[in-house]
Amino acid sequence: MFQNVEPTPLDPIIRLISIFKADKRDNKIDMGVGVFRDSDGNTPIMAAVKQAEQQLHNQQTTKTYVGLSGDESFNQQITRMVFGDGENRRIRAVQAPGGCGALRVLSEMLAKVSPDSKVWLTDPTWGNHYPIFHGSRFETATYPYLNRTTKAVAVDDLLDSLSRRGPKDIVVFHGCCHNPSGAELQPEHWNEIAKLAAKTGFFPFFDLAYQGFGDSLEQDVYSIRTVAQEVESLVVASSCSKNFGLYRDRVGCAMIMGETSESADSACAQLLSTARSSYSMPPDHGAAIVGMILGDQQLRKIWEQQLSDMRARILGLRNQMSNKLRARTGHNRWDFIADHRGMFSLLVLNDEQVNRLRDDYAIYVVAGGRINIAGLRDEEEMDRFIDAFIDVTE
Ligand code: LMR
Repeated sequence: MFQNVEPTPLDPIIRLISIFKADKRDNKIDMGVGVFRDSDGNTPIMAAVKQAEQQLHNQQTTKTYVGLSGDESFNQQITRMVFGDGENRRIRAVQAPGGCGALRVLSEMLAKVSPDSKVWLTDPTWGNHYPIFHGSRFETATYPYLNRTTKAVAVDDLLDSLSRRGPKDIVVFHGCCHNPSGAELQPEHWNEIAKLAAKTGFFPFFDLAYQGFGDSLEQDVYSIRTVAQEVESLVVASSCSKNFGLYRDRVGCAMIMGETSESADSACAQLLSTARSSYSMPPDHGAAIVGMILGDQQLRKIWEQQLSDMRARILGLRNQMSNKLRARTGHNRWDFIADHRGMFSLLVLNDEQVNRLRDDYAIYVVAGGRINIAGLRDEEEMDRFIDAFIDVTE
């Protein structure tokens, strides 16, 4: 069976995790995989998660199946967190195994209902978007996103490209904290995009992996709420890996907004049949915790405060890095680092520069030069990164 199977390369981010682990140097710095770290270099279990886990442990009396769509309280809470407290009659939500699982079941559902559509991804985008949509047999193409010189969004080119899309186009957006670039669309740009979507009829597909890591839980979904007001239907894949720190528990949600309540039901039924034929039912533990936290005033307050502290750490590191680079190099070429949002910035480095950072300085960044700024523990690591970065780039 397997004698003639060709080896297949691992996803670069996943490969980087194992190369980093195998590196014996004790001064190594991991700025690769998108995982939040505190100033001690740890990825803590959030306080509200610990408390909810304890409550769950005390209260839970069974491990029997929950059902195909998972924890209903979780689904409703996430719907409100993403779309707001208003009328959500046309929205259906299904718990999924992580944001990635949500992307995949939504992609499979769309492939069933519109197999001839083409999927448009930002240039650049998260590497795993390609295999996810190709896995559902979609053809993919890219639309302009990052201006690689200024490291800001190439807004005019992006809008121009979207104005040429139509009903057979599925356009994938990053709801906030663009991965890998860190460059953000501003509210006025989302207003334009929403109008374009309504005018041209393209189908918006939001990947929302970092709600709360950008500016605030509310501001980070301005994108989705604005587009949802203008279009008849869209989908959202959201993740609780980062904002609840539940990475390994695989907590995500696939949301469908239909033209009517009935069409939302039909699309949801297609999605559930996809789920049934792959993982069947989603894992319960993490979603039960998120449902508890969001439904309990006190736990929610503790969670929101810690999330806001995490966001402040990232923004502080961004300001520090851009100030230091300006002071050291004498020019403002790196000011964009402070303007970016989320954990990542794409510094646009070639393979040789990325390899030199790793081989000469034990600093790991993703190919292309994506840094996870939260990977820097303290000022000493920041200074080491800056020395190394200046050495490989100047
Ligand atoms: C990342 O982009 O580093 C994270 O989303 C982790 C992953 O699965 O790639």
